[in-house]
Amino acid sequence: CGIVGYIGTKRAQDFVMDGLEKLEYRGYDSAGIAVNTGNGKFAVTKKEGRLQRLADELHTNPIEGTIGIGHTRWATHGKPSDTNSHPHFNKDKTIVVVHNGIIENYLELKKDLISKGYEFLSETDTEVIAHLLDMNFDGDILEAVRKSLKSLKGAYALGVMSTKDPDRIIAVRKESPLIVGIGKGENYLASDIPAILKYTRDMYLIENGEIVEIKKDSIKIMDQDGNPINRDVFHVEWDIEAASKGGYDFFMLKEIYEQPEVITKTLKSRVDENYNIKFEDIGLTKELLENINKIYIVACGTAYNAGLIGKYILEKLTRIRVEVDIASEFRYRNPIIDDKTLVIVLSQSGETLDTFEALKESKKSGAKVLAITNVVGSSISREADSVVYTWAGPEIAVASTKAYTTQLVILYLIAIDYAQKVGKLSSENAKEFVKELFGLEEKVAKTLLYEKELEEISKHIIKQHSMFYLGRGLDYLTALEGSLKSKEISYIHSEAFPSGELKHGTIALIDDGVPVVINVTQDSLLDKSVSNIKEVKARGAYVIAIAKEGAENIEEVCDKVFYIPKVNDDLACFLSIIIHQLFAYHLAVAKGNDVDKPRNLAKSVTVE
Ligand code: G6P
Repeated sequence: CGIVGYIGTKRAQDFVMDGLEKLEYRGYDSAGIAVNTGNGKFAVTKKEGRLQRLADELHTNPIEGTIGIGHTRWATHGKPSDTNSHPHFNKDKTIVVVHNGIIENYLELKKDLISKGYEFLSETDTEVIAHLLDMNFDGDILEAVRKSLKSLKGAYALGVMSTKDPDRIIAVRKESPLIVGIGKGENYLASDIPAILKYTRDMYLIENGEIVEIKKDSIKIMDQDGNPINRDVFHVEWDIEAASKGGYDFFMLKEIYEQPEVITKTLKSRVDENYNIKFEDIGLTKELLENINKIYIVACGTAYNAGLIGKYILEKLTRIRVEVDIASEFRYRNPIIDDKTLVIVLSQSGETLDTFEALKESKKSGAKVLAITNVVGSSISREADSVVYTWAGPEIAVASTKAYTTQLVILYLIAIDYAQKVGKLSSENAKEFVKELFGLEEKVAKTLLYEKELEEISKHIIKQHSMFYLGRGLDYLTALEGSLKSKEISYIHSEAFPSGELKHGTIALIDDGVPVVINVTQDSLLDKSVSNIKEVKARGAYVIAIAKEGAENIEEVCDKVFYIPKVNDDLACFLSIIIHQLFAYHLAVAKGNDVDKPRNLAKSVTVE
């Protein structure tokens, strides 16, 4: 979520909306603004959906006032709706709050507040804060905030205002980021630098546990006991574009680098501290799973490629038949579905039309439908029988990276849990497997260190018109995603093939210097893969291999080898794909392409 605030002498709405637009990458399922118009109550406008809807509303019905706060939301507690959007307020709208993060003990607090007569309008954890502030308010909003903080558990950033103490905005930082911008006769509050960079380059970076009082001509930082804190002014040198990407040249690169963290975050959302998988809420009981005789995984694009790996691991661990279908095909081919079928739909956005329609068709035919998506409250999440979220955070770049790896995480957890429930995997082995998944964070981080080398090598390849991606077993499935990545953003034609199949026709296209990227991470298939490398090498190919540490003898037959850390064969795909993502990224950069917005593509496809 993103927070913006303005206090000064100009129309607050204009600053807040401008800032929110820059923060849209932090979430964009709903947005809202509160402004003090001077009549004793806040004017609050909130809209579900993209920020543009709020902007349109404010264009028609502007709010006049010189102090305001706004918020763009990425739903966690409560689906995206006008009511669940921030700002939230107390009963008489004299106190408003915007919030980024999660209040962990909100249910407890809510119960207590209800027993004291407070009424709740929304399903959010944030509304608790508004009523808590109301309860603790005695004419001084700063005091009310300080008192209320004592009851709040969790990680959060807050922006608070009151019409009864009207000349200041109070902000709090606990874990979630917050900055205050220094203006002339006006000051600004935001979750992130890009939101206010247009107005000032001088900021205070608020630290954990600090409270800030922002007036139009003063900014006071203090600790929770009210002791003043001196902070040096931070002068921002970056340009606006780069800042919103956290210093990365493109969102895609930022998202590639977020993978170690979001893989663990997604794991933690479904695994407890004893490595037990928690899927109680999705209804996949032992009885239900024992009754299922077939699974379909349905998706488009990168999510489809993740689904192929899902099939591999589900079949391997559970021995249940799994079919993977492209959503636009599935919905029109009258697939064999009944009440013994489990359909898993995979979609980062949760909005892809074909996937959504395939979901509806499946439900009509009596199947149980489980959705795996990255967007809380998306159409697919609302329509499915049950949902498991990936916790990749907003993915902005069109070419999907972190959504793919977090989808894999969930698919692996489902396969392990399923196998355990139907008696195909002991709880000990299941825990071992889960532990290995937790080990990926470090291994992915280590794999990312190849970026410089990949940048170098891609410069020599951009003149090529065609490439081939090969692999056997799981490695072939990774090759499919690797090829898609480079097609999407580098515009170099490529095809992925099972290594053993190339010789049945396509090898005719291998000529001097044609790049062949081959995954050889599966120990049991290593010798066979070496033969395949020799076949293409003999026809002049330039061979780039991705192998595990320890397979050094492969260097003799390749032009370049990237070694991923040693890992269980079944998990190698999490590491080899990192090499492919960075390779595709640098091919695109070297060609001067717009990496984040490749030609002809869209992030979310809501047409057939
Ligand atoms: C679009 C995007 C792809 C994405 C696909 C499926 O084509 O460009 O990157 O994989 O849609 O999107 P979804 O949101 O359903 O995962």
